[in-house]
Amino acid sequence: MGELVKEALTIGWPLFALLASLFVYSLVSAKDGAAKKSGVFKVFIGTIGAFLLMVAIAHYKGSFYEANRMLPVSLVLITATCFMMGVYFPSQAALLKIGGFMFLVAAGLSGYGNWLPQVEGGFPPAEVKLDFQSMSSQQLADEGEKIIFGGIGKNKEQGAVGKGQCPLCHAFHAGMLGERAPNLVGLPARAGKERLEDPKYSKGKAAGRDYAQKEAFPGAGTAENGQEYIAESHACPSCYVVAGYGVKGTNDKESPMPAIHKPPISLSLEELAAVDTWLYLREGIDAPSYEEIVKSYEKFVPEADRPKKQEDKPAGGGGDLMADGTETVDVIFQKAQCVACHTIPGISGAKGTIGPVLEEGTNALLRMKDKDYKGSARTVPDYIMESIVSPSVYVVKPFPDNTMPKIFGQKLSAGAIKKIVDYLSQVKTGSPPPKIS
Ligand code: HEC
Ligand code: HEC
Repeated sequence: MGELVKEALTIGWPLFALLASLFVYSLVSAKDGAAKKSGVFKVFIGTIGAFLLMVAIAHYKGSFYEANRMLPVSLVLITATCFMMGVYFPSQAALLKIGGFMFLVAAGLSGYGNWLPQVEGGFPPAEVKLDFQSMSSQQLADEGEKIIFGGIGKNKEQGAVGKGQCPLCHAFHAGMLGERAPNLVGLPARAGKERLEDPKYSKGKAAGRDYAQKEAFPGAGTAENGQEYIAESHACPSCYVVAGYGVKGTNDKESPMPAIHKPPISLSLEELAAVDTWLYLREGIDAPSYEEIVKSYEKFVPEADRPKKQEDKPAGGGGDLMADGTETVDVIFQKAQCVACHTIPGISGAKGTIGPVLEEGTNALLRMKDKDYKGSARTVPDYIMESIVSPSVYVVKPFPDNTMPKIFGQKLSAGAIKKIVDYLSQVKTGSPPPKIS
């Protein structure tokens, strides 16, 4: 409401000034007491009328072009204004009343129109071109939150995942245990201290590092400060592996985390700057400037590997699909990160142990026979589909519930899910894996 008044005053102040002087003039020029009295009354009514008119004008703009669609309210305000002006200009009263009545009818009609289901049309939303460089750090952090979680304010929502996919592996709040990846709470504070001071990080710098990858690329060197540590973690996860979180069997030399600037996640440097800004700001810590963050990434991501700016797509929209179904099934498993949690026979890199081995040609039949099975699937493909779209309908023992994300129904196209189902139905214990088509 305060906004509305402000807008009304900005738009309508010349009108307001004109009307006000008119009223004051009529008050001053009134001859006798009775005329003065009615003058005061008219000034009062007139002021309210003028104000309502301005609110209506201001509101009218919002009503038409913005989401609130409060057109009837504007029209009713105009009606009220007309009737009030009728009091002030008795000679025009009839005309004003007719005008007011017409606005009232219009209000009724548009109100009725608003009850009907809304049909979007007429004003397509403007193409959003995000200019990260000129954003305030709070705006940048908001974009970062969208990229990580799919929307502003979604960081505490269980299962919220954006195109960055980080919450598939990481927890972001104190007390939430991540067995798959370190909890990222406190990251800005530990990045420049514990991490860089860890002898395993700094020992002999790049040359002496004992990890799958010594440097992000030849000559990249190692991080010199906290922001550079974060940039290196994102661009080259296997340059330093947090103890206990390496790929099983590699003795913490290799990280299961995908390099975020590469497919399937492919965040651009500016999107990464947004992600990092959120990581700082949400802990109440000032973030380095946009330029400093981008520079820290340029140290670890060579020019040729930098994803192009995504100018035609709004960043991090919650609606982005992880896979659209045009990919081969192995790529779909990669893109949706199934491989991070599941071992899938025949799919290279799918060595996860967080969930069951996906031998669904065999497993599905056993699951549907289990006395605890309460789902509605009667066939192998139906069971697989159900497991992907609603993982909690049946929780495979001894795995915990709520580990498998519940987002795939929205994040994978029907075509992509069909390819997964076709493939997994043919995977049987003890048989060679099916061909990828
Ligand atoms: C497939 C699982 C996975 C995904 C997806 C993932 N990470 Fe990671 N991340 C890990 C694992 C495991 C580690 C620990 C091993 C290591 O140091 O690389 C890690 C380490 C990190 C670290 C270093 C943490 C520390 O305490 O030093 C940061 C920072 C990080 N990830 C940020 C991110 C961000 C931001 C995203 C999303 C854009 C993301 N990760 C997506 C699995 C993942
Ligand atoms: C974050 C880890 C995680 C990710 C990512 C994940 N899953 Fe799972 N999945 C699990 C866990 C844990 C279970 C077992 C508990 C349950 O049934 O919910 C499971 C169960 C399943 C089952 C039932 C298996 C059976 O034998 O009955 C299927 C099928 C499945 N996942 C498919 C997928 C596919 C396909 C993807 C990728 C689109 C995927 N999962 C991604 C963790 C994950």
